[in-house]
Amino acid sequence: MVKKTAPGYDSQELREFAEVLRGRRTINLYLQMPVPDELIRDAVEVATWAPNHGVTEPWRFYRLGSKSIGRCLDLVRELVTAAKGEKAGAFKAKSWSEKPGWLVVTCRSSDDELLQREDYAACATAVQTFMLYLWKAGIGSKWTTGDITRDPGFADIVGFNASDEFVVGLIWYGFPKVTPAQSRKDVSEVLTELP
Ligand SMILES: Cc1cc2nc3c(=O)[nH]c(=O)nc-3n(C[C@H](O)[C@H](O)[C@H](O)COP(=O)(O)O)c2cc1C
Repeated sequence: MVKKTAPGYDSQELREFAEVLRGRRTINLYLQMPVPDELIRDAVEVATWAPNHGVTEPWRFYRLGSKSIGRCLDLVRELVTAAKGEKAGAFKAKSWSEKPGWLVVTCRSSDDELLQREDYAACATAVQTFMLYLWKAGIGSKWTTGDITRDPGFADIVGFNASDEFVVGLIWYGFPKVTPAQSRKDVSEVLTELP
């Protein structure tokens, strides 16, 4: 029998919450259906409640519309073509064109190493909050940090100053077509409990 340590510890509600946290998967393939803008606005608002040391609120969120997505596709085609040839460039642009929603999350830059680390950590928790909120709403997502996100052309398209902000993630989102399986180490392999 589970020993209760807090009110509601063994509740159905808590088990369901754990299932949302455990069940979120990185989604690569999406149905070609738009996600309501309002839901994304809500998810971003919820994400801003993530912990952030000193309440620095170091994040900025950019939701891309079809014109900016088109410019990103041109950029990725150009970058991949230069590196791997035309066929690879066209293939990448086609696969990226099937990502229904695009959100870029940036973190403010700082010369203070500790502040920078803590701000980045805060932004990472905001991204996870955003993704989990969507997952609960039936929307999948994928956090990416590919080369394009560090290209100066990407900052130009998204419209931030690369000396003031850096990309934490390009987050694609949409209704999942396929939800892949995943596994994790047993908790005993990652948790050390001290006396
Ligand atoms: C900071 C960060 C960057 C990531 N960048 C990429 C990426 O560029 N390409 C990719 O395929 N997955 C990327 N991922 C997603 C991970 O590959 C994914 O979370 C991992 O495979 C575990 O799968 P799950 O999210 O379904 O548990 C990134 C995840 C994080 C946290």
